[in-house]
Amino acid sequence: MNFLAKHSAQLNGEVICPGDKSISQRIVMIASYLNADINITGFLNGNDPLSTANALNQIGAGIKINGTNVSITKREGPLASSSGAIDLGNSGTGIRLLMGFTSGLGIKATLTGDESLVKRPMKRVSIPLSEMGALVSTTPKGNPPVDILSGNLVDNFEYDMPISSAQVKSAILLAGLTANKKVTVIEKKITRDHTERMINFFGGNVDVTSEGEGRRITLHPTKLISKDHYKVAGDFSSASFLIVAGLIAKNSEILIKNVGLNKTRSGLLSVLKSMGANIQILNQKTECNEDVGDLLVKSSSLHGVEIGGAIIPNIIDEIPILSIAASCAEGKTTIKDAKELRVKESDRLEAIASGLKALNVPHYLYEDGIEISGVKEIFPSDEPIDSFGDHRIAMSFLISSLISTKDIKVLNCENIYTSFPSFFDEMNKLGLSMEKYG
Ligand code: S3P
Repeated sequence: MNFLAKHSAQLNGEVICPGDKSISQRIVMIASYLNADINITGFLNGNDPLSTANALNQIGAGIKINGTNVSITKREGPLASSSGAIDLGNSGTGIRLLMGFTSGLGIKATLTGDESLVKRPMKRVSIPLSEMGALVSTTPKGNPPVDILSGNLVDNFEYDMPISSAQVKSAILLAGLTANKKVTVIEKKITRDHTERMINFFGGNVDVTSEGEGRRITLHPTKLISKDHYKVAGDFSSASFLIVAGLIAKNSEILIKNVGLNKTRSGLLSVLKSMGANIQILNQKTECNEDVGDLLVKSSSLHGVEIGGAIIPNIIDEIPILSIAASCAEGKTTIKDAKELRVKESDRLEAIASGLKALNVPHYLYEDGIEISGVKEIFPSDEPIDSFGDHRIAMSFLISSLISTKDIKVLNCENIYTSFPSFFDEMNKLGLSMEKYG
């Protein structure tokens, strides 16, 4: 599915931010574990959370989905082993978190995914889980399918993560939760803390202390208490496409409502503000232990920045769209310490560089980052841009049409439905017209 975005649109209007992908996937897992009657609203009805919910149903969760509303009813029996392979589609979060979740439950499962997911590294999760006593195996190269057998997890397991990954941390915390064992995870740099917040929201005991630039996170075994309702916050990562669109489009002003503003996720706001962005936060509040608010975004003249170090895990999913902001910022933007981008849904550093080449935006690729020299206006080549089947790359380059002298064509946009199914409709409503082609 290829898309064409018209060039130089002006954006105006209001958008309601779609539900958070990370939170939607965590809540269906934790709610299945709670085994109680619970209604979830604001769920992201996108392919990744749907794959995770289907996976949980294969082990007996009984999740019912109706648009953005989800209901789970108290079951008779426990979650149980699955005989057939469980397909997590494109979702790295789904497979990695379920590796921990199922290992702790002591059930058997085979977890696999689409052609992108079966190339992604799983040893980062299978190694600590094995050290914890789980019986987990991957292919010799460390990829899915992942086989889980019923193991016995130790108590008081401590893991100092070699990479700062919220998926690894969450897999270990969920293994501790479902096995009812104490676990400690040390992260050298702070990563998104939705799992910790959600467990505590349901009466759990996750203790978090600062350690250097990172955190020490301990889950103490406690019986969780269910609530009848959970509301999923809007997805900051999806909002980031709208934010950058509003900033780089000429004479534009947009209001994005219900955006998740968790501090471990919304670092892009401070990066963009340091580049000169005009963004106001309105109506900030806390719901279900997560911060949310509305963002008023106005066209701004941006200038380049240098970023690296502890902010990177916070903005890891926003770097593709930040690269588009950098493309029209005055001067150079340098992004370093972001090697993790090479093992996302695509090698995102290569994918960004390849798209920028088609846009004729000067850049230099590093092993762990990229330097982009901003231009006033983009004069792209006639070649379509390859999204490498990656949702965030596809959305980023469609938005680059706002600063382009010609329409922009992007190939293989279907995976936009994994995280932001209403992207095309919302962008069209705001004024950026996009259509299928080819
Ligand atoms: C996620 C964590 C991040 C992020 C991914 C979602 C999560 O991955 O890139 O899109 O929900 O925990 P890593 O933990 O691999 O950095």
